[in-house]
Amino acid sequence: MLDKNVILDGKAVLVTGAAGFIGCNLCKKLLNDYTCSELVGLDSITDYYDVNIKHERLKEIEALATATGKKWTFVKANLADKATIDSLFEKYHFAVVVNLAAQAGVRYSITNPDAYIQSNLIGFYNILEACRHNEVEHLVYASSSSVYGSNKKIPYSTDDKVDNPVSLYAATKKSNELMAHAYSKLYNIPSTGLRFFTVYGPAGRPDMAYFGFTNKLKAGKTIQIFNYGKCKRDFTFVDDIVEGVVRVMQHAPEKQNGEDGLPLPPYMVYNIGNNHPENLLDFVTILQEELVRAKVLPADYDFEAHKELVPMQPGDVPVTYADTSALEADFGFKPATPLRDGLRKFAEWYAGYYGTANTQVVKN
Ligand SMILES: NC(=O)c1ccc[n+]([C@@H]2O[C@H](COP(=O)([O-])OP(=O)(O)OC[C@H]3O[C@@H](n4cnc5c(N)ncnc54)[C@H](O)[C@@H]3O)[C@@H](O)[C@H]2O)c1
Repeated sequence: MLDKNVILDGKAVLVTGAAGFIGCNLCKKLLNDYTCSELVGLDSITDYYDVNIKHERLKEIEALATATGKKWTFVKANLADKATIDSLFEKYHFAVVVNLAAQAGVRYSITNPDAYIQSNLIGFYNILEACRHNEVEHLVYASSSSVYGSNKKIPYSTDDKVDNPVSLYAATKKSNELMAHAYSKLYNIPSTGLRFFTVYGPAGRPDMAYFGFTNKLKAGKTIQIFNYGKCKRDFTFVDDIVEGVVRVMQHAPEKQNGEDGLPLPPYMVYNIGNNHPENLLDFVTILQEELVRAKVLPADYDFEAHKELVPMQPGDVPVTYADTSALEADFGFKPATPLRDGLRKFAEWYAGYYGTANTQVVKN
């Protein structure tokens, strides 16, 4: 196991994408378990999905900061706005930066490429530049399992060649890793990229399949199960992702010089995934059971009448499966939340947020 070489207590930490699904959970974990001198969350609150969920998440962070008496500052800003990013770094002198802000989603990138170039490429470049001019102890950033494209070899290892992205989203995430490598080499910036595998959980992303399925089933609509349900996904519960991120934050790749006397890039990439791919149809079955248990759907719901098996969609990949041996060896941790436990938490949250089969929570 690697020793901790980054102390979070007493340090200024920036989390971008703080109103997002993973970012919000990370901020809450940091507020609960650490005492950063400054915890700054940045987000532009894009309307890619229902912004009410983003505002709710921010309210939760705010309430936790108040309850724990910890420092918390939210900045509504766009990563693509270089002047604002630069001034934020000059003001706070961040020791640790976690870049989670991005335009996510594979399918959306097929019809809306511009958002990906702005947020994921220009935005990430601005973060790298700010880290170059304001020395940071560690830059951690979100990559994605999508960089593996349609790789046949499973489980996916960070040693695998990942030069064949099948979506622009994946191409931007792989680009982030390449850009980070260059900046680590040129400017000796310790950076760690994290390839997340299909993250789910309470207050998750409404654009993701499990959430969309739930909305549709509750509305009595038919859900479409792609690739005739034969897709396999390494579904990873959000608490496991956050645990992995926090552990990784506390060990920056060491700065070392090579034989030529020049710095070797202090650069690492890890997978964070459940290491236990589930068949999409099995996933849907557990989801159904948990939605009934949480009373989101009635016990006599006719699931078969609301399911359609359809072919694969452009940009989709048939399987994702994380090799997490490097994460385990270096950080003594691998995601392990069983799907049923995670989906139970999602279903219970959904019932509280949107109401059960018999009650409807009115959102304004
Ligand atoms: N959730 C997953 O399954 C998953 C899987 C692999 C990788 N990832 C990556 O993890 C990160 C977090 O994902 P998430 O699921 O929390 O997504 P999310 O969409 O919930 O959160 C991302 C946040 O970034 C913000 N954002 C987007 N563009 C911005 C910009 N230009 N400036 C400032 N803020 C901006 C959005 O408003 C959003 O709140 C992303 O980088 C995503 O690509 C997520």
